[in-house]
Amino acid sequence: MLRAFIARVHRRRYFTKPRLVVCVPSGISAVERRSVQEAGYLAGARHVWIVDEPMAAAIGAGLPVHEPTGNMVVDVGGGTTEVAVISLGAVVASMSIRSAGDSIDRALVDWMAKEHDLLLGERTAENLKVSLGSAYPLPEELEAEVRGRDMSSGLPRTLTMTSSEVRRAMAQPVADIVDSVRTVLDKTPPELAGDIVDRGIVLTGGGALLRGLDELLRRETQIPVHVATDPLECVARGAGKCVEELDVLRSVLLAESRRTA
Ligand SMILES: Nc1ncnc2c1ncn2[C@@H]1O[C@H](COP(=O)(O)OP(=O)(O)OP(=O)(O)O)[C@@H](O)[C@H]1O
Ligand SMILES: [Mg+2]
Repeated sequence: MLRAFIARVHRRRYFTKPRLVVCVPSGISAVERRSVQEAGYLAGARHVWIVDEPMAAAIGAGLPVHEPTGNMVVDVGGGTTEVAVISLGAVVASMSIRSAGDSIDRALVDWMAKEHDLLLGERTAENLKVSLGSAYPLPEELEAEVRGRDMSSGLPRTLTMTSSEVRRAMAQPVADIVDSVRTVLDKTPPELAGDIVDRGIVLTGGGALLRGLDELLRRETQIPVHVATDPLECVARGAGKCVEELDVLRSVLLAESRRTA
């Protein structure tokens, strides 16, 4: 797949060996890191750099990651939610959990089966989340029709769902996300935590688009919460910035190696 992407970018220069910046979840092991790097070299890269996803997300969201201040980024993706506090170019405290977009979809599938005997496909569940999902009560609750398969008759059935019921159905994975933010705040050194209270938490990833997730986090942590502009693109943008400005990359990698040394 990497080779195909590289070929697409370098359409007319088949023999160029590109430099790659690959982003990985912060929780992966050294062995997994190395195999990602290996895959990059096998795909024909001249050099492969590995950057933590939350670091890339923070850079992509425009946070001052190199300054001696505390920055908190919460990246709610499909598979994982990554919470990280970054200062002086390094991740100071972080946590990666499996509660994210996909587990919210699964919670909706489970709820519909249990409460309504209705079997939903993955795509339908995701659509339901995007159209009616929320983490905090909405100023005006919504309604929409959901289509699934009746579990006893096996026939298609349509049901009207409300946003408040959908919110109840997805409450657990959402609560897990809030808990992970609390845990990381707990692990954060006091001065940096103080900076975060002043500057706020930045939400990135597709999950940042979930209605009311910012409001819920604000209420639960008493800290300002901002949704990044184009949250779905922060990690890619941050990685892009690392490729374009190699000194940004260098200082991130240097800070990381200092931390792990
Ligand atoms: N408007 C929306 N409301 C709620 N969730 C959304 C919305 N738009 C996208 N999502 C969800 O965001 C998730 C994808 O986000 P993103 O692209 O950041 O994940 P990813 O980077 O591919 O995953 P990971 O970071 O776990 O590797 C999906 O679960 C998708 O359903
Ligand atoms: Mg992601």
